[in-house]
Amino acid sequence: MSDPSGLNRREFLGAGTLAAAVLASAGAKAAERIAAADIDALLARMTLAEKLGQLAQARGQRNDTGPYVPAGSEADVRAGRIGSFLSVYGADTTRRLQRIAVEETRLGIPLLFADDVIHGFRTIFPVPLGEAASFDPAAAEKAARIAAVEATANGLHWTYAPMVDMARDPRWGRVVEGAGEDVELACRFAEARVRGFQGGKLSDPDAMMATAKHFVAYGAAEGGRDYDVADVSPRRLAEYYYPPFQAAIAAGAASVMAAFNEVNGVPMHANRELLRGVLRGAWKFDGLIVSDYTGIRELVAHGVAADDAEAGRLAMEAGIDIDMVSGIYADLLPAEGKAGRLDIAFVDAAARRLLKAKAALGLFADPYRNCDPARAKRDTLRREHRTAARDLARKSTVLLRNEGQVLPLSKAVRSVAVIGPLADDRRSMLGSWAPTGVAADAITPREGIAAALGSATRVLHAAGGEAALAAARDADAVILCLGEDWDMSGEARSRVALDLAPDQQALADAVLALGKPVATVIFAGRPLTIGALANRAPAILWAWHPGVEAGAALADLLFGDVSPSGRLPISFPRHVGQIPIHYDHRSTGRPASESERNSAKYVDAPWTPLYPFGHGLTYASVRYEALTLSSERVAPGAALDVAFWIANEGRFAVEEVVQLYLHDEVASTTRPVKALKRFARIALAPGERKRARFTLTAADFALLDADLAPVVEPGGFSLFVGGSSETALEARFTVEG
Ligand code: BGC
Repeated sequence: MSDPSGLNRREFLGAGTLAAAVLASAGAKAAERIAAADIDALLARMTLAEKLGQLAQARGQRNDTGPYVPAGSEADVRAGRIGSFLSVYGADTTRRLQRIAVEETRLGIPLLFADDVIHGFRTIFPVPLGEAASFDPAAAEKAARIAAVEATANGLHWTYAPMVDMARDPRWGRVVEGAGEDVELACRFAEARVRGFQGGKLSDPDAMMATAKHFVAYGAAEGGRDYDVADVSPRRLAEYYYPPFQAAIAAGAASVMAAFNEVNGVPMHANRELLRGVLRGAWKFDGLIVSDYTGIRELVAHGVAADDAEAGRLAMEAGIDIDMVSGIYADLLPAEGKAGRLDIAFVDAAARRLLKAKAALGLFADPYRNCDPARAKRDTLRREHRTAARDLARKSTVLLRNEGQVLPLSKAVRSVAVIGPLADDRRSMLGSWAPTGVAADAITPREGIAAALGSATRVLHAAGGEAALAAARDADAVILCLGEDWDMSGEARSRVALDLAPDQQALADAVLALGKPVATVIFAGRPLTIGALANRAPAILWAWHPGVEAGAALADLLFGDVSPSGRLPISFPRHVGQIPIHYDHRSTGRPASESERNSAKYVDAPWTPLYPFGHGLTYASVRYEALTLSSERVAPGAALDVAFWIANEGRFAVEEVVQLYLHDEVASTTRPVKALKRFARIALAPGERKRARFTLTAADFALLDADLAPVVEPGGFSLFVGGSSETALEARFTVEG
């Protein structure tokens, strides 16, 4: 206990067996010893207003110098009207507030500090969609672990990540926060990130609670407009939107956040069927359910609550435990409860869950566990954290195109022009959702390239216009940095057009006309429709927003120290009109075909994407061969071993992302033409040949029947392997009945 004196004076310590447990503890182990009975004893001492105060989350403010606590919050903490804070961090600030909660409130219950630690705390990693392009969940787990080490060293206990929303609509700006279009990939990243944030056990000093958000179908927003209606079938929910939440919960996610949107006519903040029915009931989720921001108050704008008080009642009854910043639970629900309009059992259950979470985090044993400035100094932006960010930035970058092997560029160039609006835009390297990041930490492409080349090479730079063209004219090679700035993707950043900005396209056209070696690097939080560029630009690297090590990682790739290895976690459309476009579509009764007039296609454009899911080149050419199955007939419940060879036929060491897809040929409900089941990164030295092996189990052959029950139906399957969803090899097998 780092601050026993504060605790000893408080009435909190008279709180029956809970206090006894706290007193008995000489260290953090007390957390696990606080039993349900202790929590009940504490609850029994709480007034309705105190319980609702615990369920209220207040918001800090942020400005250029970091967070601060708005006037009035301290008095609210003292009065027991705040149980947690959003966006307040820092070892000193949190200690000051925690001391008020522990020493100056009637019950001395410690505060929780929460924030959006999405892809790093101070060491910012690639945006989540970029991390997913690594196809390396272990690297994402490590990134989340590092984020938690830094965040907990700076006062935080709880992150609002991972975002596990599925989306097939890049108009929706929040695709940047997810893991792309594919369920298998999304599930592997969801569980990896939860494990990373939460570490070994929550009472560990560097562990923080993770939040799977936003439940549910937020990415199904009509028209790709953020917050808009989701109207989705039960099948689509079960097959597509639920699995990453289930994976996150199976990995132990301590909390779930409700989504802003309505689903099938009922806003999620009032959706009893999905919160209490599915999440709590069918899935037995017993962690915290937190509202999204003012989601409770927004029930009025949705038109399902007449006023704030009704909104609060509906949310509480639907199962929302914590009111993030609406103020409604603390301000209005005590009176609703007293007037008999609200069943207090809901409040008790929610407060019990919150106290359990505080106990699990070890806060009753040591309220100041995350308030040590020395630790903050030691653990923030460590050198090895930056090394991990550089590694993940390299792995996340996707080489879309490399005609004539323009890349890698030679380091022997005498001059290189690093031009375009993103070439030296520090803030944009961090991406849209890095509230605790610091732009000054980021290495821009211009800086990274200059550092890699040394003083013998002249690095010319201009952001755009005639100056950029002039720099390109003067240089031996050009690195053209285009795309979206940090503020063009993310929340409330929906777009109707996904083309490059006209001035960027014009710059690209002019530079490409010079006939020099040009590598185009695109930064973006979503797929863009870059057909016009792809027709002309020989080499395109898709860098997303790579994080603090952006420029260093890009230099590693551009000059061939490391081969690109990222793969697209989401299909790139040719036209916005193709959206939603995804590789795992159904066949339809009239599958798209060149020769069939009346088939599922367009008359004015191809039906295929510009770049498919899973696509990404390396600096080598990797050959796939000799696909074998352990058996062509799989007995019920049995596993199937799959093996094949991959051979590096190039001059560069690479990491190849091998991908295995299945198609159930005939089933009682329609199945995707292809669905990703396994993937792995395999390192190959030049000339090296390796055997890749995967084992499929009965769960991989299952589908949801007409009643949405999982079943394995006997029959034929096609199996595909390759380096993208446009696979190289195919085999067939039969699952026996
Ligand atoms: C977002 C959430 C986020 C919350 C708190 C909301 O606007 O939808 O994802 O956790 O703000 O910052």
